[in-house]
Amino acid sequence: MVSVSSLASRVKLRLFRELARFSGEFGYLHRLEWIRCNYPDAFRQRRELAMAFARSSVRLTNFYYKIDNLDEAAAFCRAVGGMPAPEAMGYFQELFGDRELNEALGAKLAALPDHDPRPMFGRRIVWYALVRHAKPRVAIETGVDEGLGTSVLAAAIARNRREGAPADSRVYGFDLPGDRLGHLIPDYLRGDCELVTGDSRRTLPEFVRTRSPQFFLHDSLHSYEHERFELQCAWQAALPGAVLLSDNSHALPTLADFARENGVDYHYFGERVVGHWYAGAGAGGIRKPLAERPS
Ligand SMILES: C[S@@+](CC[C@H](N)C(=O)[O-])C[C@H]1O[C@@H](n2cnc3c(N)ncnc32)[C@H](O)[C@@H]1O
Repeated sequence: MVSVSSLASRVKLRLFRELARFSGEFGYLHRLEWIRCNYPDAFRQRRELAMAFARSSVRLTNFYYKIDNLDEAAAFCRAVGGMPAPEAMGYFQELFGDRELNEALGAKLAALPDHDPRPMFGRRIVWYALVRHAKPRVAIETGVDEGLGTSVLAAAIARNRREGAPADSRVYGFDLPGDRLGHLIPDYLRGDCELVTGDSRRTLPEFVRTRSPQFFLHDSLHSYEHERFELQCAWQAALPGAVLLSDNSHALPTLADFARENGVDYHYFGERVVGHWYAGAGAGGIRKPLAERPS
């Protein structure tokens, strides 16, 4: 049953959205009401930050922010990727200190009116460390959006190549076609990634018919059924030892269920966000066994 107050909120939301076409102030009120409706706890706890965000950003999806629980991120990399935690920490620092990447992303972000110009990677730091450690020839990210994650993954691939990884190492980003698809990806990293456009239900099975991922990240349509489809597809094609991540594990148990059914350990990392109203997302991770278990 829909309560009277939630119905009133929905009506208010719709009204502000319509009025936003005539005045920026209503745009602000619409975004604020949207946050209040969709993230009531975060709105209550971080109201000041929500108000500042609604003033400065028109994007209501895929938020960018910093996190400060790097020790937990490193522990996740150890558990999923099999690397010592100090190695993971070293990769995080390498990413934060990558001037070429940070400057290129900063320039792209500064040119957009609705973005904070500082590149902030959030949980993408674990994607970077896992790719730096595993040095995959084929890394897959489903769900590219503006390409912040693709940029991080491509930067890892580029460094791997410079350190002797195969010259054809790439990150393959899958998404639906769109005007702003991958527009943050710096020009100097374009050769390290390839975008595959179309519904991943169709494009992913086609792709893995001929290529075996060593790193797979689900970050596209976050329904249980779609995530499960992608995981199944990637798991069957993945090389032994491949890492599979889900960027939706804070919301759905898809990867945890998948791990249990396949008899592998499931690990979870939850972000601790700094300076943003959004409470953070989480990454689930599993690893394909190196050798088939005897039956
Ligand atoms: C959360 S965003 C991806 C964020 C990105 N990984 C990053 O690091 O910023 C989700 C993306 O999934 C894409 N998407 C949704 N449904 C899809 C589908 N059926 N096939 C491929 N991509 C899809 C959306 O277009 C959107 O760009």
